[in-house]
Amino acid sequence: MYLKWSDKYKVGIEEIDKQHQSLFDVTNQLIEARKKKLDRNTVERFLIALVDYAEYHFASEEQYFKNHPNADIHRREHANFVHRIIEFNKKFIDKEVNLDSVILSFLVNWIKKHVLEMDQRFLSSLM
Ligand SMILES: [Fe+2]
Repeated sequence: MYLKWSDKYKVGIEEIDKQHQSLFDVTNQLIEARKKKLDRNTVERFLIALVDYAEYHFASEEQYFKNHPNADIHRREHANFVHRIIEFNKKFIDKEVNLDSVILSFLVNWIKKHVLEMDQRFLSSLM
């Protein structure tokens, strides 16, 4: 269950397409960490890297669609995603949860769907 990049994910803005590929990479790092049963400290570092990268990427993306009439809906979806991962990270650090297939499927499915649907709708129209 890795996120595999393909041209169908492209929105046509080079900066954003590159960032999406990096987001795929950061997510794949977590999938790999679980597969290799890496220690909790490493997983924790990867989870923090995911939040950091997602926040950085969403901020860039939001600049592109800031004048879109439905910008708020898109921004809210980004915020909900970040919130969900931060909540997970807290529980992970407190050893209440493990990096299981539930959270990984959530990440993979959310990213795929978001990039294919919402990002396409908001960003490809800008080009
Ligand atoms: Fe987005």
